[in-house]
Amino acid sequence: MNIIVETGDPYVIGSEALIVPVFQQDKGIELDPIVDDEFRLQVASLAEDSRFVGKRGTTLIIPSLGRIAAKRLILAGVGESGELSAESIRRAWGAATTAARSAGAKRVTSVYPPASETLDLTASVAAAASSATMATYRFTEHFGSVKVASPRNDVESLAFAGSADLAAMVGRGIETGVAVGAGVNLARDLSNQPASVLTPVEMARIAKKVAEDSGLEIRVFDEEGLEALSAEAMLTVGRGSKNPPRMIHLIWRPDEADDSTPQIGIVGKCITFDTGGYSIKPTDGMVDMKGDMAGGAAVLGVMSAIRALDVPVIVHCVICAAENMISGDAFRPGDVITGMNGVTMEVLSTDAEGRLVLADGLVYTARQGVREMIDVATLTGAKVVALGSQTVALFSNDDSLANRLLNAADAAGEPMWRLPLSEHLESQIEGEVADIKNTGGRAGGAITAALFLQHFCEGVPWAHLDIAGSNRSNKATAYTPKGATGVGVRTLLEYLESANSDGTV
Ligand code: BES
Ligand code: MN
Ligand code: ZN
Repeated sequence: MNIIVETGDPYVIGSEALIVPVFQQDKGIELDPIVDDEFRLQVASLAEDSRFVGKRGTTLIIPSLGRIAAKRLILAGVGESGELSAESIRRAWGAATTAARSAGAKRVTSVYPPASETLDLTASVAAAASSATMATYRFTEHFGSVKVASPRNDVESLAFAGSADLAAMVGRGIETGVAVGAGVNLARDLSNQPASVLTPVEMARIAKKVAEDSGLEIRVFDEEGLEALSAEAMLTVGRGSKNPPRMIHLIWRPDEADDSTPQIGIVGKCITFDTGGYSIKPTDGMVDMKGDMAGGAAVLGVMSAIRALDVPVIVHCVICAAENMISGDAFRPGDVITGMNGVTMEVLSTDAEGRLVLADGLVYTARQGVREMIDVATLTGAKVVALGSQTVALFSNDDSLANRLLNAADAAGEPMWRLPLSEHLESQIEGEVADIKNTGGRAGGAITAALFLQHFCEGVPWAHLDIAGSNRSNKATAYTPKGATGVGVRTLLEYLESANSDGTV
């Protein structure tokens, strides 16, 4: 979808659908003064008949029968005006663009979205543009002769139309919103892709493309490179697969960066398929495991948008890509791995592989001289039990970092809840023949996984986002279609954008 700004009266510009926001419990539906009274009354009566009152995320489509230049009016509920937020804009424009698509409208116009004291016009447009981009996402690459036969009616263009005075602000909002939405959609594409296609080597190839497009530095560690790093955990987890592991390191340096520019690390678990290894998963537990690379997908999605958002800090993105398979050479329960920092790990379950690859990723990232680092991982089923699928679990050894991430998640509309790094559970992962073991039993499973990771953060302020379950959605919601969600991209971008603002980072 091509999103643009167009100056002029949206009620006069021709299109196949015009999106107009409606606040709940306001004086009524506000239409442009040029709309004649008769149509105005008809719209009001249709809204009443359909009980459309502007509730957040609801829509009403009204054929305009030539009364305005657009073929249809799409009324988009944004909820109460006093509660206007980026999320209400996202819900409204997500619902409106999917309604436009269902109606077969290809060229869509929209009035400028509303702004408030806490949500300026640029931010409001960014929310609307990102939502339109995310809501109309589809993964059709593997549609064959059956699905291709059904006509595709994607929205081709969305033009925000309004006064010329504000067009520059609107244009800036579109630019950032589209970059964010495209970053989320990239993460979704990677996560939806079958593991036969998206191998660690393929992930590295795509990362190179992202680096080229966005002017990022990139280093890819193959088996030899991993050997030279002593990244034994990466090599061990990847050893059972014909698709060799890769550690991928991308670096964003803002143009004005100097020696005093803070450096931040983002680290993604990228298990391109998780069979569980010899601690093999049952059929039902394995079925979604092509998505076990969603953490890596999220951090790459972030890097794809980083230039457009002009993130003010240096960002090191580290993707730990491996496939957890079975073979005569695969690792076994009982094996011991030495971490890059000398901490030894006893493998009790080959299915607790994510924390192993992240151990190498975190030590490597800490050594880049980052001031803080965040890992993103589909790490534990226990997180799904604790918080449900959608809510992301946050763990951190630093309260300031944790609070900034919670604020970013809130602004991004990605539910997140902090869980404790309970010291008294540390005994559950104490090793018998090595320093620590890679499972701590069922009780507090998401916490003991986080405690395991903490052994590799080298004293750097660190946060861990367990996105297990949040990476997929079984049903479509306002701007998230069924399938991979791209969770984490928006929270991390919000966090990075404001990383420098209070000067404490
Ligand atoms: N990739 C899984 C975690 C997972 C489960 C993600 C469900 C998404 C949905 C991870 O590698 C895993 O298998 N974890 C084990 C750890 C256990 C063996 C300690 C788990 O959660 O069962
Ligand atoms: Mn596993
Ligand atoms: Zn896994």
